[in-house]
Amino acid sequence: MTFAPELAPSILSADFAHLADQVLLAEVGGGTIVHVDVMDGHFVPNITLGPPVVKSLRRATRLPLDCHLMIENPDEFIPAFADAGADWVSVHYEACRHLHRTLQLIADHKMKVGVVINPATPVDFLVDVLPMVHHVLVMSVNPGFGGQKFIANSLAKIAHLRTLRAELGLGYRIEVDGGVDLQTIASVVQAGADLLVAGNAVFGHGDPTANARELLAAARQAALPSA
Ligand code: DX5
Ligand code: ZN
Repeated sequence: MTFAPELAPSILSADFAHLADQVLLAEVGGGTIVHVDVMDGHFVPNITLGPPVVKSLRRATRLPLDCHLMIENPDEFIPAFADAGADWVSVHYEACRHLHRTLQLIADHKMKVGVVINPATPVDFLVDVLPMVHHVLVMSVNPGFGGQKFIANSLAKIAHLRTLRAELGLGYRIEVDGGVDLQTIASVVQAGADLLVAGNAVFGHGDPTANARELLAAARQAALPSA
């Protein structure tokens, strides 16, 4: 099973005072998923936003809101994200004492279920929950900040997830997050990623529409079967 690559602009690097406009610019450039980084200052050393901002975004775009929870005790907040209008919610393996229960809670709230692993966490730790998830997010930087350098070992993890998907006959999407830019996007697509999160490369400089368009073109090119 393969999926056409999709671009998920991460608003972490956007101008938060003009979020609706920034999301629209990225959408015009071909972004089809809005990646929303939620940080609590405990699980990661940074603080961003919570359900009120998701609620506002919900009114500003029809694109799916992909909420990446980098927080401790996600169970306490999943209902609030559902109420705010989140479409996809992913939680970190490293933050969940009872991961199966947390993933089930997301599903019970009618949202797409995602699980995330940090650079130091092996893919094999997820085998027992893979049948429950809509997407697996491979962190290709340590979570907490935009604009960090891509960790090359992530490519092997993406490829491993692709192999497992075929072997197990599953249909989850493979998402990559961190350091995805014009230099790295072809390699992540060739490894098997189909949901491409990009923050700094879309919003960090220049025109988000042109940046998104260029990234997506490079991803689509990399996805073509080689001659
Ligand atoms: C980092 C966040 C990412 C971040 C990626 O913890 O999860 O979504 O926005 O930023 P870039 O694309 O700038 O590496
Ligand atoms: Zn993220």
